[in-house]
Amino acid sequence: MPLVTTTEMFKKAYEGGYAIGAFNVNNMEIVQAITEAAGELNSPIILQVSAGARKYANHTYLVKLVEAALIENPQIPIALHLDHGADFDICKSCVDGGFTSVMIDASKYPFEENIEITKKVVEYAHDHGVVVEAELGKLAGIEDDVKVKAEDSSYTQPEEVEEFVDKTGVDSLAIAIGTSHGAFKFKPGTKPQLRFDILHEIEKKIPGFPIVLHGASSVPQEYVKIINENGGALKDAIGVPEDQLREAARSAVCKINIDSDLRLGLTAGVREVLNQHPDYFDPRQYLTVGRANVKAVVAHKIKDVLGSEGKAL
Ligand code: G3H
Ligand code: 13P
Ligand code: ZN
Repeated sequence: MPLVTTTEMFKKAYEGGYAIGAFNVNNMEIVQAITEAAGELNSPIILQVSAGARKYANHTYLVKLVEAALIENPQIPIALHLDHGADFDICKSCVDGGFTSVMIDASKYPFEENIEITKKVVEYAHDHGVVVEAELGKLAGIEDDVKVKAEDSSYTQPEEVEEFVDKTGVDSLAIAIGTSHGAFKFKPGTKPQLRFDILHEIEKKIPGFPIVLHGASSVPQEYVKIINENGGALKDAIGVPEDQLREAARSAVCKINIDSDLRLGLTAGVREVLNQHPDYFDPRQYLTVGRANVKAVVAHKIKDVLGSEGKAL
């Protein structure tokens, strides 16, 4: 089947009390790993591309890799999404360039300006059959080269969501309830706790509307350990507990974004192989193991966290 938008996926996920995994893609091995796992588990999937991914791998290469994945996995719905589009131009470029979904992230601007920028993207995208995700509230952590300090992050205000959704016409909304980007999400010694009270207030304000959770990696400690035992230095890497993500997936949260966990799996595989085999210099020798780890991470999320196994349309 051709690339799909997220409309049908989110409707079923909302009604079925599960979430769709949105995994970041940067190269062939990652596209293969994610779509093979989703294909074997009959799960719908969102492949998302950041500005950094486009800079690294080139827009056309990424689109063509995803098209190859569609041919290899014809039985599952796949959406191709722009992650954290910073302005109208990058969203337009992805709409024109074959994506089925874009995120306009104008969350750093004041409320009215966020509405204005988001609305412009929505009008263009909808005219071209593409859906739009926007964001209200600010997550801590690192995206591309932008670092938002924990003290500058802010939770989404439930009293703003209805007006935002009505005025922009957006299709889904990313909210800030305590997740953050990257592998260092919480101060060591503190107990990670998402603000489900805020999520539930938001659900009540916009019933039936799909919510998105960014910064949802759990930072698997087994991969952190392998990385550190094989020359890495990741100190105090902490993620979102998976039981909290399971709870989110049962709610109005229909899309859960995961990137760092894939990076950790890939890096752990590569470091381990190269450390054990200093004579290896064929990329296939170490990328095979890195790719297998990414596939295992995605399969675990689909089966044990998101609940999207067997939900291909
Ligand atoms: O939200 C950020 C994603 O993990 C993408 O990261 O901008 O470094 O590609 P990136
Ligand atoms: P993580 O860094 O927690 O994987 O978040 C990824 C993300 O939100 C991509 O938009
Ligand atoms: Zn994000």
